[in-house]
Amino acid sequence: MIIPNLTEAKKRTSKEVLVKTNEYIMENELKKIGQGKKYFVKTYGCQMNEHDGENIKAILEDMSFTEVGTMEEADLILLNTCAIRENAHNKVFGYLGRIKHLKEERPNIITGICGCMAQEEVVVEEIMKKYKWLDFVFGTHNIHKLPQILSTAIVRKQQEIEVMSVEGDIVENIPVKRASKYKAWINIMYGCDKFCTYCIVPYTRGKQRSRHPEYILEEVRQLKKEGYKEITLLGQNVNAYGKDLNIDYKMEDLLEDVAKTKIERIRFVTSHPWDFTDDMINKISKYPNIMPYIHLPLQSGSNKILKLMGRRYTKETYLELFQKLKQKLPYSSITTDIIVGFPGETQEDFEDTLDIVNTCKFDSAFTFIFSPRVGTPAAKMKDDVPEDEKRKRLQRLNQLVNQYSNEANQKYFNKIVPVLIEGYSEKDSKYLMGYTDTMKLVNVKGDDSVIGQIVNVRITDVKTWSMNGEIIQ
Ligand code: SAH
Ligand code: SF4
Ligand code: F3S
Repeated sequence: MIIPNLTEAKKRTSKEVLVKTNEYIMENELKKIGQGKKYFVKTYGCQMNEHDGENIKAILEDMSFTEVGTMEEADLILLNTCAIRENAHNKVFGYLGRIKHLKEERPNIITGICGCMAQEEVVVEEIMKKYKWLDFVFGTHNIHKLPQILSTAIVRKQQEIEVMSVEGDIVENIPVKRASKYKAWINIMYGCDKFCTYCIVPYTRGKQRSRHPEYILEEVRQLKKEGYKEITLLGQNVNAYGKDLNIDYKMEDLLEDVAKTKIERIRFVTSHPWDFTDDMINKISKYPNIMPYIHLPLQSGSNKILKLMGRRYTKETYLELFQKLKQKLPYSSITTDIIVGFPGETQEDFEDTLDIVNTCKFDSAFTFIFSPRVGTPAAKMKDDVPEDEKRKRLQRLNQLVNQYSNEANQKYFNKIVPVLIEGYSEKDSKYLMGYTDTMKLVNVKGDDSVIGQIVNVRITDVKTWSMNGEIIQ
């Protein structure tokens, strides 16, 4: 049993990160463990966690399990969790109630949890006390060990916990079962060293470790060969890519080399404003296959709050960067993340945030109420904004954000834009859906033959969250 430890998770060592190409091992006797058995994996959280979910599914299929769409049909249920805010926690604990019920009816099913919540000391303590019936827990650094963890849990029939607090090395040979045949996620780095004071990620994902460019480029070339149209380069702060490598190779170099593979669409998330260089902007404008879409989290428009958050930029430098981006990439869409109700946020601080929203008129924004995370510095600050005030601020902010989303979308009316058609719309199966180069959701009428294609679409109807259009032949 290895359980997480917050003090260890905070540490950053200068230990060299090794690249391991044989670390994922599937012993012959483990390959048949899942024969005739079904699995259900539920993933919460960010794209990185979704991508981990794709690795987990491939590993389970290597063990002969087959995927099913509901947990009621499954012999193995795994929750791949997110720890970013309290409501993410609550959802998982709510779901565990349902799983417990199933386990009572069918004691032979195997149940486990993994992901960012599994990296939290308080969560694992609670699981050991109150959720003894869960068969196994593993962390974000142990995914490649899933075959061994699972088989131990099954054989020993006692709760198996394996969560390393300090990150491991980079494992390059983990298989992947991608959710889409047309667009793919590619990790370019793991972890985060920014330690924004509110954020749990540096503790759950460990120190920043960039993948070597040759592995990333090989993955892109392979995906292109398989017919993929779009890739998204993933990292908590992609702009800092390469800073931890022992070669002189940065995000702008990677963008250029990926663009040269001629894969049709390249996206990247997330950009921290602090590390956005002019060279990066130049590469984005130079290569038409780097999509004109930038997610640039603001978090707050108040310099006092930004300082308390440890974001290392001011509203002035944020605006300067924003304006530079708009000037050099006039067609681009820019989206953001904003937190309201951070400790010490006065009405005036909040108005500063609204001011920036009014200036930048973001294409869209994810907005959140501050949620204290155990172990982070902000959790020790005085949470002094009353609950109903936080909700009021969020509501006001959302109203403004939605107004600008709608305005930004209106500019697309009657324009012809390229859309990668992904499949049928989940909301209305009469429509196909896809995204523009600028990441706008578009619904169109059409048949199967355009799925997986980038087609020109004339926008005929514009809404706040999506648009309708018709395919131009
Ligand atoms: N690495 C990304 C953010 C990943 S988390 C970046 O730095 O931009 C996604 C978003 O969740 C953050 O941008 C932030 O707005 C929000 N968030 C993170 N921790 C939070 C917390 N404790 N309470 C509320 N929102 C939080
Ligand atoms: Fe969290 Fe900040 Fe790292 Fe983003 S940059 S993951 S907000 S610590
Ligand atoms: Fe959540 Fe972990 Fe991602 S906390 S947002 S799943 S890195």
